[in-house]
Amino acid sequence: MTVTPPQTRDAPVFTKALEIVRPTFPPMEGVLAELARCMAAGQVTNNGRWVQEFERQLTAYLGVPTIVFNNGQMALMTMIRAAGITGGEVIVPSLTFAATAHAAKWSGAEVVFCDIKDDRTYVIDPDDVERKITERTVAILPVDPYGIACDYEALAKIAKKHKLKLLYDSAPSFGTKVGGKPVGGFGDAQIFSFHATKAFNTMEGGCLCTHDAALMEQAKVIRNFGQTGGGDCSVPGLNGKMMELCALLGIEQLKTFDAAAATRGRSAARIIEGLSPISGLSVGRAPAGQQPIWLYLPVEVQPDRFGCDRDALADLLARQNLNVRKYYSPACHEMTAYHRPSGNPSLPVSERITRNVIALPIYNDMTPDECNGIVEAFRRVAKQAGQDAGS
Ligand SMILES: Cc1ncc(COP(=O)(O)O)c(C=O)c1O
Repeated sequence: MTVTPPQTRDAPVFTKALEIVRPTFPPMEGVLAELARCMAAGQVTNNGRWVQEFERQLTAYLGVPTIVFNNGQMALMTMIRAAGITGGEVIVPSLTFAATAHAAKWSGAEVVFCDIKDDRTYVIDPDDVERKITERTVAILPVDPYGIACDYEALAKIAKKHKLKLLYDSAPSFGTKVGGKPVGGFGDAQIFSFHATKAFNTMEGGCLCTHDAALMEQAKVIRNFGQTGGGDCSVPGLNGKMMELCALLGIEQLKTFDAAAATRGRSAARIIEGLSPISGLSVGRAPAGQQPIWLYLPVEVQPDRFGCDRDALADLLARQNLNVRKYYSPACHEMTAYHRPSGNPSLPVSERITRNVIALPIYNDMTPDECNGIVEAFRRVAKQAGQDAGS
């Protein structure tokens, strides 16, 4: 159902567009002074002093041995290979950024898509994971969508029962807390992205965390072309090394990250509360005992109750200068890259969500006025769509 958007003569809620991402960076003075030192020392990459220091700080912050990479995708591909996966089937949620499925595919495994829970958390459904296990399954690769941590406990039980590797693509969720502690040490290994779109960013970057010493050693080898010393390579590796400049940005950013995470949490709570009286919106929710970093705030639109569909809503919000993202859409199993001539799997929850979901911006430095503006933009659109949405 598509509603023809009514014209409005009101000025938009935001005079300057509110974009889906507003990256924040640490004060440059400290970074530039260290960068000058780093360049003078002639060590700008190859696991130098600042990368080692950043790894030490991340290990302390997350409470699990951690190494850094030049991006999240490289950390993800390395994690899968370092866990020994070169074939078989890997179970992956379909409602994720395509990078998750791609990484599994590049390892040589077959990607088996799985549905998500229908409870506004958007996380992989452990029951469907179990249904998808066959004798060829070698690993489960869950995602923390929008920064919401999936059900680590239920997934650990399934992985243990079926003797499967449990590898987390936690690219969006650096800073998410479960039981008051930052996630990082779950499963056989966990990776994060530090891309500029993420809450914690080094422009490009990522990290891999694991308590498994053998997996960690193998990941270090793969990260450095597979080299083991003396020119020999034990495996066909990659170049996954982080630049010293990115490590410097990370070290500086870590100093203020807890405050940024608190701002994100407050902003999400304010928007969630503001949107709650509006009919036809299912706003994302944190599972019990969890403080997501809220990379974005996902909202599912029920067209019949809201008054217009997701695409019309996104267009009408853009007229209020609020630029949302249709994220994650399309679902991976519907992408050309994963098309099966024999027919795509049926994943009813993912298919409904991917057609109806939008992601709202949450920033490290979001102001209460911006949160109120987002709610006001929705109220106006709800009115345009025929609702009595209050003011
Ligand atoms: C779920 C997921 N996995 C992997 C990646 C890849 O991370 P990067 O962009 O740092 O390579 C992303 C990036 O957004 C992601 O969202």
